[in-house]
Amino acid sequence: MQVQEIKTESLDVKSFIEMKTGEITETVGKDLAINALSGGVDSAVVTMLGFKALGNKLKTVFVENGIMRKGEPARVVRLFKELGVPVDIVDARERFFDALKGIVDPEEKREAITRVFYKEVFGGLVKKSGAKYLLQGTNFTDIEETIAGIKRQHNILEQLGIDTKEQYGYHVIEPLIQLRKSGVREVAKGLGLPEEVYNRPPFPGPALAARVIGEVTLERIEIVRGATEIVEEELSHTGAFQYLAILHQDRVTGIRNGKREYGLQIEVRCWESKDAKAGSPSRLPYELLEKLSKRITGEIPGVVSVTYNITKKPPSTIEAI
Ligand code: XMP
Repeated sequence: MQVQEIKTESLDVKSFIEMKTGEITETVGKDLAINALSGGVDSAVVTMLGFKALGNKLKTVFVENGIMRKGEPARVVRLFKELGVPVDIVDARERFFDALKGIVDPEEKREAITRVFYKEVFGGLVKKSGAKYLLQGTNFTDIEETIAGIKRQHNILEQLGIDTKEQYGYHVIEPLIQLRKSGVREVAKGLGLPEEVYNRPPFPGPALAARVIGEVTLERIEIVRGATEIVEEELSHTGAFQYLAILHQDRVTGIRNGKREYGLQIEVRCWESKDAKAGSPSRLPYELLEKLSKRITGEIPGVVSVTYNITKKPPSTIEAI
């Protein structure tokens, strides 16, 4: 299927919302639909469109995969409760860590996450609830990157030849597939979502696993989760497109309490970008970089080195894997 992009400049938000809610109502008919809310702008918009179209025929879940940022499940559930949308938390932590055990290859990691998410977690939920449709927030850039062979985005299925009905037992509806992130943000505003949602920096589907080089274990996720919290606290005021912390696989010799410590390395990235297609590292003040290094090495156990990425996308990409 050839997907036609709707450029943000020519997007008519009101009629887009009307058209998409109409399409969802018509497609789902008398059946039930299910969708996963991660807290990002794409899944938030899909949740609101789905809820508008289907009301209580839509079951929204937050999949607690163990690789999200600190406090994320509670934050997301609270926010949507305030908007009148009920969200169930599904605990799938063990499944995700089991599936990621021993994997170091980036594409294999992405594949494992896709498999657990769509086949195991959603396959099971769909069977239990009797839902026939999954609504999800795939956008135009996700398709483009996957087809171009840059990265397999966790939510690309059909374009990779996956027949979801046959393989997982449900059809997928993707109302945002023609939009870039900037267009999705406009629709979020149009749906009355709060600024904390429509201006939220992007966060990848494979979550913190996209920021761990090498094996993803609970211990290594805890390290990158801690570093992420510090980076977000220190850089949210910059207005940058996205900022993140990456845990490296290689260790380096450092010094702690006057003794040698063969420790961990964290890489910080902070991006200026319009739509994630290309990006440049933000020219952060040196004092801010020093503060990040001091906090990360002081607060995260085992980290002895902090670096800042100064490479543009391309040839870098925004996430590490
Ligand atoms: P990259 O790392 O490819 O990221 O330069 C481009 C943008 O996409 C986000 N990203 C993802 N989003 N599923 C998503 O929904 C994914 O698998 C995925 N991988 C990367 C990334 O955070 C950036 O904004």
